[in-house]
Amino acid sequence: MKISVVGTGYVGLIQSVGLAEFGYEVVGIDIDERKVKLLNRGISPLYEEGLEEMLKKHLGKNLRFTTSYEEIKDTDVIFLCVGTPQDKDGNADLRFIYSAVESIKRHLDDRYRVIVVKSTVPVGTSRKIKERLKDYNVDVVSNPEFLREGIALRDFFNPDRIVLGFGDLNNPKPIEVMKEIYSYFLDRGVPFVITDWESAELIKYAANAFLATKISFINEIARLADVVGGDINTISRALGLDERIGNKFLNAGIGYGGSCFPKDVKALIRQFESRGIEPKLIKATEEVNEEQICWFLNKIKRYYGDLNGKTFAVLGLAFKPNTDDLRESRGIKLIDLLLKEGCIVKCYDYVEKARENAIERYRLNNSKAYYGYNLYVLDDLYEAVKDVDGVIITTEYPQLREEDWEKIGNLVREKVVFDGRNILDREKIKRLGFKYFGVGRN
Ligand code: UDX
Repeated sequence: MKISVVGTGYVGLIQSVGLAEFGYEVVGIDIDERKVKLLNRGISPLYEEGLEEMLKKHLGKNLRFTTSYEEIKDTDVIFLCVGTPQDKDGNADLRFIYSAVESIKRHLDDRYRVIVVKSTVPVGTSRKIKERLKDYNVDVVSNPEFLREGIALRDFFNPDRIVLGFGDLNNPKPIEVMKEIYSYFLDRGVPFVITDWESAELIKYAANAFLATKISFINEIARLADVVGGDINTISRALGLDERIGNKFLNAGIGYGGSCFPKDVKALIRQFESRGIEPKLIKATEEVNEEQICWFLNKIKRYYGDLNGKTFAVLGLAFKPNTDDLRESRGIKLIDLLLKEGCIVKCYDYVEKARENAIERYRLNNSKAYYGYNLYVLDDLYEAVKDVDGVIITTEYPQLREEDWEKIGNLVREKVVFDGRNILDREKIKRLGFKYFGVGRN
């Protein structure tokens, strides 16, 4: 079986490399010539554990990349992995999806093909794609992904479930094709959820919205714990010990970021609203998340009074550890707010590419000129904390626990830590003479 993957962004690249590792002949198609050139040289445009090694392993053998849609002619299965960014109203923008479908259409012939939608698309999209292709010998399958950035390849090979949505469950052809492609998972007992298009599409949004809701829920409880006393980390642990609740995604902090949760929660809200239904709980999830960073900034303000002219070290630029991705990063949001307050910000991230991206982001937005020279991206954590009025933790890097906090204490102007991710050992930090402010652990 020959496979083409349209779109070589996050999802498409992992899918291409993963399927090549299964032994299929894979061609990745992207309209971005620069990216295709890089990929064919074995360079991954993404920072992702193990990806470049696996890419190199299959290049020149059963994996290659091209800008030509014509190549789909030779393939039996086409994975649609283009982006569905947020439009100005918060809906998922399907422009890239439909333009890819039109490009694919131009090269379809009588041969039977399966088109698999992997991009996150609003309910009803697979049906619409099939409608556009009704005159062709194709079946459309919805197959959402649940990959986490940073460990996406690991997630690809160890899924919790495979979700497959079909237009007609009485039609065995596409079901057989998909079972063959994913036989590796079938053989290993991974549960397969075989359902209709609409359920498959909703599963993806519901999964992300549920995880986001867990985060907002614990952040809301943290706000109360912050006032009445108690330690949210202990509360989370005890909650998680109840198997019905589960211990994942209950870490309180300054909220969720990244390329999925904020965008998908918004898009799900729009899907309710466009049908005249008010999504009360999911809306609250988004509201709590949006407020959380301001709630945290107010905590900092309450301590210092006026922030104008204060210097802070912000530790963490990426939206989560071990990625270079700054999209919807809470750290970046906080930096912007601090700069607006007139602060001097010295920031650091363990991932070099995240630091580079931050430099690029602020230059691109020309904010360096706008903010004057109040923002510094440093290559050394100890440089970042030198002479600051406070240290602020914005990304949950476990390495932060192992840093030499005694040395940090000697470098800062004032020994205050605002731990936006509750990552530090509170008692240890206090013993070193720091004032410690976490999220829901006062
Ligand atoms: C998420 C989903 O986990 C994945 O299944 C989906 O396919 C894409 O979206 P990802 O965006 O890579 O993956 O990040 P994830 O690890 O889920 O974290 C998202 C955000 O939530 C981060 O900003 C993280 O800091 C925050 N988070 C996570 C919390 O604040 N508390 C938690 O307990 C867990």
